Amino acid sequence: MNTPLIDPFARAIRYLRVSVTDRCDFRCVYCMSESMTFLPKKDLLTLEELDRMCSTFIRLGVKKLRITGGEPLVRRDIMTFFRAMTQHLDTGDLDEMTLTTNGSQLAKYADDLFAAGVRRVNVSLDTLNDDKFARITRWGRLPQVLRGIEAAQKAGLRVKINTVALKGFNEDELFTLTDWCARHNMDLTFIEVMPMGDIGNEDRIGQYWSLKDLQAQLATRFTVADLPDNTGGPARYVRLKETGQRIGFITPLSHNFCESCNRVRITCTGEIYTCLGQDGHADLRAPLRSSESDATLENAIRAAIALKPKGHDFDYSRQTVDGRVNRHMNHTGG
Ligand code: GTP
Ligand code: 5AD
Ligand code: SF4
Repeated sequence: MNTPLIDPFARAIRYLRVSVTDRCDFRCVYCMSESMTFLPKKDLLTLEELDRMCSTFIRLGVKKLRITGGEPLVRRDIMTFFRAMTQHLDTGDLDEMTLTTNGSQLAKYADDLFAAGVRRVNVSLDTLNDDKFARITRWGRLPQVLRGIEAAQKAGLRVKINTVALKGFNEDELFTLTDWCARHNMDLTFIEVMPMGDIGNEDRIGQYWSLKDLQAQLATRFTVADLPDNTGGPARYVRLKETGQRIGFITPLSHNFCESCNRVRITCTGEIYTCLGQDGHADLRAPLRSSESDATLENAIRAAIALKPKGHDFDYSRQTVDGRVNRHMNHTGG
């Protein structure tokens, strides 16, 4: 029996987030600059290597696998990888396989995802207004995403909406978004905007809408009750009594949740980032490629997790952006 992955702060690592591509068919303004350079395709882990990487983590005790990007569904033949992971759900070694997506390709893949064992997807959506959607994603079109969400629900997937809370952008849609999610039986999670990567004319502080303030606004219309729910992710949940719906809050800025961090990230080139909010990382591609046996890879994974930092240093409280990291969100997939 393998000893599980435990970091220096006694946190067990059970959750692996895998970015399968850094590419995306959108260019969200808080995530990417308008002209992004993407990695050469030859640097990517192959689908077989991704399979070997994830299977090794699962052998070391990972129970929850989230596929991210970029936009994971724009990677060619990605369903082959999902199908390879199904075996771990079948054996019970993996409790959940899911993905975070911009929804643009969901109409095409929803049935295949369900067939591969996916039961839940998180769709990023910051506005329900066509023009604002086109502005925030630069390249995206809202109707296509709405069709994707509908297809996902029809296929039997539960949908959670992820909304980045942006001052001066979607403040006025708080209740519109909440009502829309209630009507469509979807959970909704708000995320505080984090200082990840240089995105051009950035104004992270101007954009920042604290979820403490957002929750206070929700409370002007709804009775908000704290919930003990834990999906194994970073969100804290409440229930709105009047609609019965669940709302999540991911608050890296206003309330740090790092003490209960259970996750690490793999990029599409096989780097491991043991914290989203730090630049430290290690290469796992060379150890993976150096030997047919997984022992070298396992040692490299353990060595990286032995260096997992205590948490991020994001901080806007002094009216400056502290703790910024250099890489863009699409590199590690959030
Ligand atoms: P559930 O399984 O539905 O709870 O999902 P999740 O919240 O674990 O995953 P999701 O991809 O929806 O995460 C939403 C966002 O939360 C990510 O894109 C990140 O922006 C943020 N997030 C996730 N994990 C971390 C983390 O460890 N640190 C920080 N600072 N933010 C995180
Ligand atoms: N801060 C917070 N969330 C971000 N996302 C992308 N960039 C940022 C950022 N700088 C979100 C997306 C998506 C998830 C993958 O990460 O909207 O929900
Ligand atoms: Fe693409 Fe997601 Fe980044 Fe938007 S947030 S550009 S959808 S990777």
